[in-house]
Amino acid sequence: MTRKLAAGNWKMNGTRAALEDLNAIIAAHSDPSVDILICPPATLLMQAAALTADKPLDIGAQDCHPAASGAHTGDTSAPMVADAGGTAVIVGHSERRENHNENNTLVQSKAQAAHDAGLIAVICIGETLDEREAGQTLDIIAKQLSGSIPDGATPYNTVIAYEPVWAIGTGKVATLEQIAEVHDFIRKSLIDRFGAAAQDMRILYGGSVKPGNAADIFGVSNVDGALVGGASLKQSDFTPIINALE
Ligand code: G3P
Repeated sequence: MTRKLAAGNWKMNGTRAALEDLNAIIAAHSDPSVDILICPPATLLMQAAALTADKPLDIGAQDCHPAASGAHTGDTSAPMVADAGGTAVIVGHSERRENHNENNTLVQSKAQAAHDAGLIAVICIGETLDEREAGQTLDIIAKQLSGSIPDGATPYNTVIAYEPVWAIGTGKVATLEQIAEVHDFIRKSLIDRFGAAAQDMRILYGGSVKPGNAADIFGVSNVDGALVGGASLKQSDFTPIINALE
């Protein structure tokens, strides 16, 4: 049985005061079969990891550089994330693919760096509204899957997050039918490439997940959890989403 995962992407939000929410999230979490991951801004990672050490809440980064070290001003490497206590790193988020011109090749190299550092790579994929309206969704997803996932991916070091770009931060959540079509396609593609073991590779949905729609989304085939943005910033919103997975 695949373990469920509720992941929160805080994006560029939160100061040290926001870390008080972490203990509240842990206190409200009762089902040990559901994993929780919070990815705060890099400035909070080490303190968040220290606060949650030995507790049922993992801390991750929102990006990493493909190199282990070097002259890359402003960047953070995967080994640094691990050194700071992180266990995972989001790579290829659509906001970085767009704002930092990250292509599938670069995303794959970041995911490989995460694997090399012993981190779980949360690899984000998703189509734009134009691509969906042009009927290109599954072609785009296929290209992102084949181009962004390293050959060494396993259910233990890789999570896939399907985030339709047009649903991120818009309140316009994908329909259950749209989610089912893409998640089923992702699962088949993963099994075709990695074999039966890929049945246990977690596929998260992201894009306007809220307390009011989470349970329905989690009832869709091949949805193993969520990657949540806005609703992860308040414990009172994130806890109901976690509970919907339990
Ligand atoms: O990475 C998760 C994020 O892109 C989803 O954002 O605010 O639509 O939940 P939001």
